[in-house]
Amino acid sequence: MTIRKHIGKILVVDDSKAVRDLLAGLLRDAGHDISLAEDGRQGWQIIQHKQIDLIISDLEMPVLDGFGLCRLVKENPDYKNIYFILLSTKDSTASKVKGLEIGADDYMGKGIAESEFLARIKAGLRIRALEKELEEKRVTLFQHEKMASIAQLAAGVAHEINNPIAFIASNLRSLNGYCEKLTECIFTLLKEIKPESLDDIEEIRKRLKINFIIQDSAELIEESLDGAERICHIVQTLKDSSRVDQDACVPTDINVCLDQVLGQIWEEIKDKVTINKDYSPLPLAMCQPLPLQQTLSHLLTNAYQALEGNGIITLNTWAENGGVSLSITDNGIGIPAKDIDRIFEPFYTTHEVGAGMGLGLSLAYDTIVNKHHGTISVQSRPGQETIFTLHIPIQA
Ligand SMILES: Nc1ncnc2c1ncn2[C@@H]1O[C@H](COP(=O)(O)OP(=O)(O)O)[C@@H](O)[C@H]1O
Ligand SMILES: [Mg+2]
Repeated sequence: MTIRKHIGKILVVDDSKAVRDLLAGLLRDAGHDISLAEDGRQGWQIIQHKQIDLIISDLEMPVLDGFGLCRLVKENPDYKNIYFILLSTKDSTASKVKGLEIGADDYMGKGIAESEFLARIKAGLRIRALEKELEEKRVTLFQHEKMASIAQLAAGVAHEINNPIAFIASNLRSLNGYCEKLTECIFTLLKEIKPESLDDIEEIRKRLKINFIIQDSAELIEESLDGAERICHIVQTLKDSSRVDQDACVPTDINVCLDQVLGQIWEEIKDKVTINKDYSPLPLAMCQPLPLQQTLSHLLTNAYQALEGNGIITLNTWAENGGVSLSITDNGIGIPAKDIDRIFEPFYTTHEVGAGMGLGLSLAYDTIVNKHHGTISVQSRPGQETIFTLHIPIQA
């Protein structure tokens, strides 16, 4: 639906062919997209298969009448925002009140003048468009608040974990040193043992699996240290992202920034990827250099990781709406529709354990939306392509 012109997808439900044809003709001439149904049940089927903005329904029809259809539509959360107009030869107050009470948005008599009919349709579509806009804003706001509270939670957890994990890592390092010394001491002592005691010692060594313990202790400590250091890294990344940012904004040419980041990861990706660039000249935007570079690096790395075998990454930049936009498109595996709402959440990852922390996109979101007051969005057709689009206002 084009919001400004209030052209809409309209369903006309009436058991009289003459009325259907008359209304359809009027509405088509006004530029609307029309679907027709002979009764409420047929109308209900159409609503479930086609996106509809406004319904004009006759009151008295066989199978399912106008009241019944209106009730079905208004009781269903998926369709309740469709603007519903009851149209009737019955002009009684009782009938109008009943229609409006079960949720109809308007009630017209069949004798209505053509110009008033079209004006009311226009008003209905305008309300429908405003409701849609409101709903979109509500969803964006909800998403924004959800991200902010998850990020705050993550930062709080990071703060709490920071100290214990630091001493665990430090203690493990000391323990590693102690074990090495103890092992050296044991082997030195063994050499000094009198020959007559050797059998006993050998028995103990076998029974307690001392050789295995010595070897395995070193491995256990090494693995634990590796894990502790990984946690330290995650904690540090979270703390970095949540600190009150001191990065000053500087005038930035996003084209140059994109090329710099590409240069930084080029060695790693060059064998698997073809890069297509379509840059437009851009005005300078006020950006925080480090977070922006990290964002671009995360997005390019994600695009690269999504490729199966060789692939193509396309970079577009353009100026629009008093800001700078860029898109990163890859022809990799894509993101299934069911997962797309979750990818910006901290720790959401589909990569193997150890391969991805699931923080790249949540940091990218924080940088673009919170720090630069811009937008970041994603569209994906699994198996075909994924496009991440960023918009950054010139003045953050
Ligand atoms: N270009 C892309 N194509 C397909 N999936 C993607 C793409 N970018 C991100 N994803 C999905 O989003 C998830 C989260 O990304 P990110 O926050 O960077 O964390 P990580 O890369 O550590 O998994 C990824 O695990 C992946 O499933
Ligand atoms: Mg990533």
